[in-house]
Amino acid sequence: MRQKISDMLIREMTLDDLPVVLRIDRLSFPLPWPERSYRFELTRNPAAHLLVAELDDTHPQSVIGFAGCWLIADEVHISTLAVHPNHRRQGIGERLLLAVLEWAVGMGAEIATLEVRVSNHAAENMYLKHDFVIKGRKENYYRDNNEDALLMTLTDLHRRRVEVDGGDW
Ligand SMILES: CC(C)(COP(=O)(O)OP(=O)(O)OC[C@H]1O[C@@H](n2cnc3c(N)ncnc32)[C@H](O)[C@@H]1OP(=O)(O)O)[C@@H](O)C(=O)NCCC(=O)NCCS
Repeated sequence: MRQKISDMLIREMTLDDLPVVLRIDRLSFPLPWPERSYRFELTRNPAAHLLVAELDDTHPQSVIGFAGCWLIADEVHISTLAVHPNHRRQGIGERLLLAVLEWAVGMGAEIATLEVRVSNHAAENMYLKHDFVIKGRKENYYRDNNEDALLMTLTDLHRRRVEVDGGDW
């Protein structure tokens, strides 16, 4: 069985996290966000919310993953989510996902949406494991290789949160 990380905390991203976040982003996505996009999200976009996953400070590199979303009315759109390649398959991605959903429900969200590359089975499986469903397909969505995106959604967030772990997502 793969070992799950327990000594980890999830907290809000700050500008000081950007050097590590940008490194993980470049290791994780064919089209990483430029630094100015993160700066905009952190300082100018009131709809944005960004989190990092951090190991305790006895580890040499403590930030090992991050997630971002936009909250618009009752919809939370997951804009980014990545875990450093050396730390994958340890439950960190799903803890980030659930932390985003937890925050969003607290803010009144009822539906979560996201796009994922059709070839990205790791991420697709993670979202399916947490009851997201495939709602559609956006053709030629990614400009690096014209790959299609799957549109995935999770509805009834408030009700699910109460049903899952008594409200402790
Ligand atoms: C997708 C990603 C965030 C998953 O993070 P992770 O910490 O490795 O995932 P977790 O360990 O929390 O796994 C949660 C579930 O996801 C699925 N999963 C994760 N990696 C998988 C893989 N390589 N193959 C198949 N399923 C996988 C499994 O269902 C897993 O549940 P299980 O442990 O009970 O089998 C990570 O692979 C990543 O950073 N990828 C690059 C960036 C990216 O694609 N982000 C998503 C954009 S939409």
